[in-house]
Amino acid sequence: MILDTRASIIAVAYIVAAVLLIVGLRKLSSPATARGGNMLAAAGVFLALAITLLDREIVSYWELALGIIIGGAIGIVAARRVQMTAMPQMVVLLNGLGGGTAALDSLSEYLRLSLVAPVRGGEAVSVVLGTAIGSVSFTGSVVAFAKLQELLSSKPFQFPLQRAFNALLVVVILALGVTMVMGGDTASTPWIVFAVALALGALLVLPIGGGDMPVVIATLNALTGIAAAFTGLVLHNQILVVAGILVGASGTLLTLLMGKAMNRSLGNVFFGGFGAATAAAGGPAGSAVAKTVRQTSAEDTAIALAYARKVVIVPGYGLAVAEGQHAVRELAQELEKRGVDVKFAIHPVAGRMPGHMNVLLAEANIPYDELVEMDQINGDFDSTDVVLVVGANDVVNPAAREDPTSPIYGMPILDVDKARNVIVLKRSMGTGFAGIDNALFYRDRTRMLFGDAKKSLTSLVEALKAV
Ligand code: TAP
Repeated sequence: MILDTRASIIAVAYIVAAVLLIVGLRKLSSPATARGGNMLAAAGVFLALAITLLDREIVSYWELALGIIIGGAIGIVAARRVQMTAMPQMVVLLNGLGGGTAALDSLSEYLRLSLVAPVRGGEAVSVVLGTAIGSVSFTGSVVAFAKLQELLSSKPFQFPLQRAFNALLVVVILALGVTMVMGGDTASTPWIVFAVALALGALLVLPIGGGDMPVVIATLNALTGIAAAFTGLVLHNQILVVAGILVGASGTLLTLLMGKAMNRSLGNVFFGGFGAATAAAGGPAGSAVAKTVRQTSAEDTAIALAYARKVVIVPGYGLAVAEGQHAVRELAQELEKRGVDVKFAIHPVAGRMPGHMNVLLAEANIPYDELVEMDQINGDFDSTDVVLVVGANDVVNPAAREDPTSPIYGMPILDVDKARNVIVLKRSMGTGFAGIDNALFYRDRTRMLFGDAKKSLTSLVEALKAV
């Protein structure tokens, strides 16, 4: 009777936690409710953790406390130290840890269960998939981290027969999986699945570079969710299944959105070797013909801005590097005081992580209604007086529209080149993440304002006040 009541309380608490997670996720879909959504989801996770501790006879509470203290301390230090621009790396690394944990959980549960009886059928399917997908996500995320951190080149890394080799690894994992389900496995089989999947994750992500990273990051996120859901099935833990499915489903949706934003299919991303075929054609070298850029000053730019009716600001990764979000808000406010219509154009893959620009601008309290998505604003550029491109590069490169030999050809961009005047704030003629030259910088209507974005923005505000 007591056991029944306890089981019912636990079941109800899990349902409440699941509802909190779902409602929290729903609220994340709008910037206005996102903060509340985050709190609700955190409460859901807390409840799930508390109930799991009461429910399960996992390891001892001492071991758990030690894990929480060591892991929590590392987490706090890492989160406090991380630079805003290193957030994407941190997120991808945490995602990888989630995948690795799911894989190790599946493996250890397999070992525990097989002490009692052989693990077969559905349980074995969950173990194999939890281990394999979690491991792929772990090493894939580590390689993605290394690329974002520039420990590895963001250029594609390829070797002969790479695709065939990767396909062979998938076949090996599937074959070993079937052996486990059917009962022909030995004690080492799950470990081989683990090792092969670790190699596969790294090999899948190594050849991907340039602008395809956003799709990869979203996919790795989805894989971690799916791995966690399978681990939940192995552990018979409903809340882990629900949370895993939520992460897997939202990661899959994000993957589709990112794929659409880059105009790339998943197959293309994972098996196409971004930029490999085109590096020769459209690389930074596109500059064989001598091209000239026109420079401008903060004073001249301030005059152009002061007399404009409509100004669109395009933030990019360089704005995050310069930490210029507060300066750009001041500039927008100064212009609005003069009756100028100011909007921020948000490209879905600007920066280095999904929603990077939204987070950055929200941090400076820039009102959400001034942020306009690419599809909504693209039709407005031909009636825009001045576009201010602040630390953005790839997302405004017209080669994506015009040059079939460019590695980013086909990626939807912000059509800023259609505006009457374009002013680009960056430090040099340096390339962006995709490592390619940008035709926009050489156009007649474009002026370059060289310098650190924050410093240039601050000078612009000063100059504008003097106009
Ligand atoms: P990028 O094309 O990467 O260009 C950023 C530009 O900012 C650089 O050309 C750099 O030029 C400039 N910059 C750097 N520091 C600066 C500073 N302190 N002040 C002024 N300018 C500075 O950025 P983007 O247009 O935002 O495009 C994003 C790229 O990253 C895309 O290729 C995208 O595919 C990729 N990516 C995106 C994601 C996600 S999910 N968003 C994830 C991974 C990769 P200088 O050096 O000359 O200053």
